Amino acid sequence: MKLVVTADLHFNHRSGRAAADAAVEEINRTPGDVLLIVGDTAAGDGDMLERSLAGIIFSGPKLFLAGNHELWTASGDSYALFTEEMPRRVRSAGWQWLETDPFEADGVAIVGSIGWYDYAFAPPDLGIPRRFYEAKISPGAAGRLSEHAALLGDDVPASARDIVVRWNDGRHISLGRSDESFLDECLSNLRRSLTIVTASKVLAAVHHVPFAELMPPRRAPTFDFVRAFFGSPRLGEQLAGDLRVSHVLCGHTHSTADVHIGSLRAVNIGSTYTAKRVLTITL
Ligand SMILES: [Fe+2]
Ligand SMILES: [Fe+2]
Repeated sequence: MKLVVTADLHFNHRSGRAAADAAVEEINRTPGDVLLIVGDTAAGDGDMLERSLAGIIFSGPKLFLAGNHELWTASGDSYALFTEEMPRRVRSAGWQWLETDPFEADGVAIVGSIGWYDYAFAPPDLGIPRRFYEAKISPGAAGRLSEHAALLGDDVPASARDIVVRWNDGRHISLGRSDESFLDECLSNLRRSLTIVTASKVLAAVHHVPFAELMPPRRAPTFDFVRAFFGSPRLGEQLAGDLRVSHVLCGHTHSTADVHIGSLRAVNIGSTYTAKRVLTITL
C-alpha cells in the first residue's frame, strides 16, 4: 500500500496560501493508494475547510484528521465542533473521519487521532507553575494583562517573568474540559480503533507530538514555553505498546524529524507555513 501523506496545510494562513496550493497540486499528481492529512488544514469556522478539500483530487480513500486549528471557533464550543459538526462536514466532503473510523485494506490498518497535550513536554527548568500552562499564557504575558495578572505569585522565578508569549488555542478553543481529560478521550479513541482493526501491520497518525524524539530542539525561552502544547508522551506510550504499530506520524510543530524508536519508524511531517511536505510511505 502506498500512502500519500501531508499535514499543516493551514489554508487560512495568508502568507502560506501559495505553498498550500502547491502542496495540493503535488498531491493531485502523486500516485498512491490512500491519502492522509494529519491536521491543521483549515480553521473550523466558515467554509475554508470544504473549499480546501474540494481542490484535492485523489481516486483512493481520503483520510482526514483534525489538528488544533480545526478546533478554533468563535462559537465557544470546540468540543461540539470536534465531535459532531466537523465529522459530519468531513464525511459530506467525501473524506473519512479517521478519529473514530479506522481504515483497513490489504492487511494494513491506519488509525489516528488529533492527539492532544498535557504539558509533559514543558521544560521543567523554566520553573513555570502549571497554572500558566492551563491558562496558556506565560508569566511575562500574564503580567501585562489585567485579566491574567492574578496568576502571578511568589513561586514564579524572575527569569520566567521575562517570558512573554501566549498559546493561541487558549483564545480560540473552548473544550469545556481540561486538556488532560480531552487527551484521555483521544487516547480512548485510539485504543478503540486499535481494538477494531484486525491487520497485523498498523500505521498510526496523531496531529500532536507523541514522542520526545519528534520534538524540535530547544530555542529561546518564549519558544520553550510553548513546547508544553506540542503533544504528550502518553500518545507514544500507547502506540509503542501495540506491537502491530510499525509507523507513527505526526505534524503540528512545523519541524521535520524521522527516527526509529524500537522497531517502529516515527515521522514528524514538518510542513511549515511557507514550505509544505508531501510524503509517500510504502506500507
Ligand atoms: Fe500547524
Ligand atoms: Fe497544530
